[in-house]
Amino acid sequence: MITIIGSINLDLIARVERLPAPGETVPGSAFSTAPGGKGANQALAARRAGASVRMIGAVGSDAFAAQALALLEEAGVELSRVGKASSPTGIAMILVGGDGENVIAVIPGANAQVSPANVEAAGFDQGEFLLLQQEIPLATIDAALRRARASGVISLLNTAPFHKETADFLHLADYVIANESEFDLYSGVLALVGDSREEKMRAFAAATGRVIVVTLGSDGVLAAAPEQFLKVPTLPIAPVDTVGAGDTFCGYLAAGLSEGLSLEVALRRAAAAGALACLKPGAQPSIPFRTEIDCKL
Ligand code: RIB
Repeated sequence: MITIIGSINLDLIARVERLPAPGETVPGSAFSTAPGGKGANQALAARRAGASVRMIGAVGSDAFAAQALALLEEAGVELSRVGKASSPTGIAMILVGGDGENVIAVIPGANAQVSPANVEAAGFDQGEFLLLQQEIPLATIDAALRRARASGVISLLNTAPFHKETADFLHLADYVIANESEFDLYSGVLALVGDSREEKMRAFAAATGRVIVVTLGSDGVLAAAPEQFLKVPTLPIAPVDTVGAGDTFCGYLAAGLSEGLSLEVALRRAAAAGALACLKPGAQPSIPFRTEIDCKL
């Protein structure tokens, strides 16, 4: 079982020829809505990878709530601990440029009400997996990581979006998953020693005894554990829309580790899943199914 505690959004997506500079207006070519939120995206990715998944989070009592949960429900993610908050369902305003890159603004809404009390109420079994991101209150993430350690739960923390305050508790997670810019920012905050990213990753793993995974987009993935350093390639693709690719990677990685794959094999599969998620528009609609990955490896 993988528990995800995290955000649930409805994504409002505009396709534009190119991303505008500040103060600039650019013409768009299409508008769509799709379920999103880093937590929900990762839950769906883990489920499509074949894991049993439960989601802890919150939506509002508005019309967006059902849309935001639709694909999780259809996939069979356990949703009994998704609460109804007094705030509206979280929203992400997303612009996707012609090169597949994006800019995103998130209005947290109900996600801001996911509290340490929700963690306490959840109940965890020893040996299960917990996957977290940073779109819910930081106190809740801290409480969840502490609860995981106390309960013998294996925890993964995806450090998106970056918050410098979480540098204080990164060491509580068994696996930290960052993109390159997040890792470089944490390296500064934590004053990690080394002349290169690889040396700083090794320094983090040696100091904490944990695994640090850094995603590099088309350059693949690096991972440092106390006794191991891995470089894993990804699939070559021409991206259509990169929204949700990192979430797909995280969900697939958690699923792979929970089924007992080695770190290297789990990373390879997760990297391939993240690449395939760039080939279709929308965060959740683009998350590939396990069968689509297995034939590529
Ligand atoms: O990581 C992509 C996600 O970030 C989107 O689905 C959006 O909801 C934001 O949370």
